[in-house]
Amino acid sequence: VTPHAHVTVAPPGSPSYRITVGAGLLDRLDSVLDEHGFTGRRVVVSSQTVWKALGDRLREGLGDVEPVLMADGERHKHMGTVGRLYDGLLRAKVDRGTVIVAVGGGVVGDTAGFAAATYLRGLQLVQVPTTLLAQVDSAVGGKVGVNHPLGKNLIGAFHQPRAVIADPLALRTLPRREFRAGLYEVVKYGAIASPTLFDGIRRNLKLIFARTEDTLVPIIAECCAIKAGVVERDEREQGERRHLNFGHTVGHALEAITDYRRFRHGEAVGYGMLAAAKLAVARRAMSQPDHDALAELIAAMGPLPPVGDLSVKAALDAVRRDKKVVRGTLHFVMPIGIGRVEVESDVSEGELAAALDAIGLQG
Ligand SMILES: NC(=O)c1ccc[n+]([C@@H]2O[C@H](COP(=O)([O-])OP(=O)(O)OC[C@H]3O[C@@H](n4cnc5c(N)ncnc54)[C@H](O)[C@@H]3O)[C@@H](O)[C@H]2O)c1
Ligand SMILES: [Zn+2]
Repeated sequence: VTPHAHVTVAPPGSPSYRITVGAGLLDRLDSVLDEHGFTGRRVVVSSQTVWKALGDRLREGLGDVEPVLMADGERHKHMGTVGRLYDGLLRAKVDRGTVIVAVGGGVVGDTAGFAAATYLRGLQLVQVPTTLLAQVDSAVGGKVGVNHPLGKNLIGAFHQPRAVIADPLALRTLPRREFRAGLYEVVKYGAIASPTLFDGIRRNLKLIFARTEDTLVPIIAECCAIKAGVVERDEREQGERRHLNFGHTVGHALEAITDYRRFRHGEAVGYGMLAAAKLAVARRAMSQPDHDALAELIAAMGPLPPVGDLSVKAALDAVRRDKKVVRGTLHFVMPIGIGRVEVESDVSEGELAAALDAIGLQG
């Protein structure tokens, strides 16, 4: 029997839905969708890259489908691509009863999800995430959207999926760096909410890197359960949902000052978690041993791109411009211990500067 796990998400304002994590789900996607109770027509939206990597298995699982393919990569995550998706949906004669099945990483999920949220004022959406990041993060929670030339994810909507179907076997073809980038978000879940998950990652690192499904299924499911719990309690990011931003204040700043080219998002979050832990130790919110455990696990994921040429000042400027600064107040996610964080609004620029210096940026 292949390993399987289910997580139910009940967002306050939308119908509840199921996340199914299991090895081999892609090879029988049609019957999985039947089992979820979808009777209507299905239109698959994916990307050239994903279709090349997984098309054989998807054709097996879906029959001879004609997918609507979009260009992949962060630089195609914009309204022009959404417009082309509308064209494709029109050509495919998509109507109100059609289910959009988004198969791909976070870029496909966010872009196709936004098209689904807006086409005919909203179509049912099934997310079939194929990167680790998408399986543990972007496919869950209902945020969809695209970038604007002036900033990331500025155009968007909340559109909860009707189901999420995650197959860890899809991750076999993922480039190693993409897989690792997703792992930093997995570490994040452990760090904010679950010492058990955190220790599980530590103990099973070899099996995780071997991408064994028996190891990955429970880990992916636990990450989804943590995110689902947070989203249920705070769908629109007023309070607890901010915990998911652990490591993201500094992470986003590092991405922004390198024009989103140097780091995969997860890698920047790796640095961000490290900086947050250093800041927390400096104000005695976190113990040195907890800091060390987090730093060691991040180091065990492998080398991160260099930051020695980046300036503390440029990073601070970027933090000030970030969305997480609401009316001049930075809501900083402070690690308190492994599995516990708190949101603090009294973090000074001096403290942030010291933490950036401590992770290696230039003073
Ligand atoms: N909506 C949310 O809540 C949320 C949360 C986190 C991140 N995001 C968004 O997610 C995006 C990043 O997603 P990502 O990390 O999945 O990157 P991605 O979608 O760009 O995918 C990374 C690369 O892997 C390829 N790929 C995907 N699946 C593959 C597979 N199975 N085998 C081989 N190659 C495969 C893609 O073609 C792409 O080149 C960002 O745009 C980010 O803003 C959204
Ligand atoms: Zn993230």
